[in-house]
Amino acid sequence: MTNAADEFHFTLSATDGAARTGLVHTPRGQIRTPAFMPVGTAGTVKAMYASQVRETGADIVLGNVYHLMLRPGAERVARLGGLHRFMNWPHPILTDSGGFQVMSLAKLRKLDEKGVTFQSHVDGSRHVLTPERSVEIQGLLGSDIQMQFDECVKLPCSDEEAERAMELSLRWAQRSKEAFGEQPGKALFGIVQGGANPDLRVRSARALVDMDFKGYSIGGLAVGEPQDVMLAMIETVEPHLPKTKPRYLMGVGTPDDIVESVRRGIDMFDCVMPTRAGRHGLAYTRFGKVNLRNARHADDPRPLDPDSSCPAARDYSRAYLHHLVKAGEILGMMLLTWVNLAYYQDLMAGLRAAIAEGRLAGHIAETKELWTKGDL
Ligand code: GUN
Repeated sequence: MTNAADEFHFTLSATDGAARTGLVHTPRGQIRTPAFMPVGTAGTVKAMYASQVRETGADIVLGNVYHLMLRPGAERVARLGGLHRFMNWPHPILTDSGGFQVMSLAKLRKLDEKGVTFQSHVDGSRHVLTPERSVEIQGLLGSDIQMQFDECVKLPCSDEEAERAMELSLRWAQRSKEAFGEQPGKALFGIVQGGANPDLRVRSARALVDMDFKGYSIGGLAVGEPQDVMLAMIETVEPHLPKTKPRYLMGVGTPDDIVESVRRGIDMFDCVMPTRAGRHGLAYTRFGKVNLRNARHADDPRPLDPDSSCPAARDYSRAYLHHLVKAGEILGMMLLTWVNLAYYQDLMAGLRAAIAEGRLAGHIAETKELWTKGDL
């Protein structure tokens, strides 16, 4: 028998409308929800030290099967003690199962019932990913929260195509679950698919809930559809997901996408936006998005936000950040990534506190009001 403390589980501490705040418990630590998970695709949250990611308030980071199986290889990571040790991040790690990245990055993809055969975007070598191999790789990496292998279609797409991919993803969910077996301290999440079709979404959610996963992801969103379609899909799916399990909206999103999804009952998020934007001269702050490439910052001695929790937002002038970005200096990317991850974590902390105190609607209204102060 395993001790309850060693089991993966979710505890809810407060709700406010459909929104929830709570804790995901794993043997490697707790994840405060709603949570934002910085993306560490290739075993690094780009331009950040692991310790610095932690200091921004992150409880968990995300890794990718696709990238790590190609380079440096899952078996190698396992021989070196697993992904946590490899990247010096001793806290929880969630891994994505690979199918989504194969479809966006790999060359010469071939998908059939068994899985996906593809050519590496790194060196052209041929690889096969199946539900079983994806779960095996996630195990070799030592992931705390694994994703089922699934197929995500880009939107817009026909109902027939969305249905085919959703049904295939359900069969792959079952195979992923069998391959995962019983692992008390770890979790495997099912992924709801179904494109922009509410009936398909409900069918997918119900079938996954019948299979009894430890958590449920909503996939196939933020793939080209307008925000109102994405939010409508969340509202469609949410009532069919158990209140006692965490819900993860994959690959989302902007600060506005996140607050609107939290309002509708989502607990976990990941997105490359704060890290990628930081490498392209964009800062996310309490006052909205600031484009440091813009010449108007060249003589501006003010910091991005003197009251920020993040030294990069407090201790460096806009003029200096502008200079670093224009000069293509690495430090510009590092400082802006830091600013953005700290802002995303502060955003989540604010949402958690507001839900706990039953004042989410007012808090969201105030947060959005500040965003309009914009590129000051
Ligand atoms: N990341 C963003 N969307 C998806 C999805 O639909 N499936 C998977 N596996 N990863 C994602």
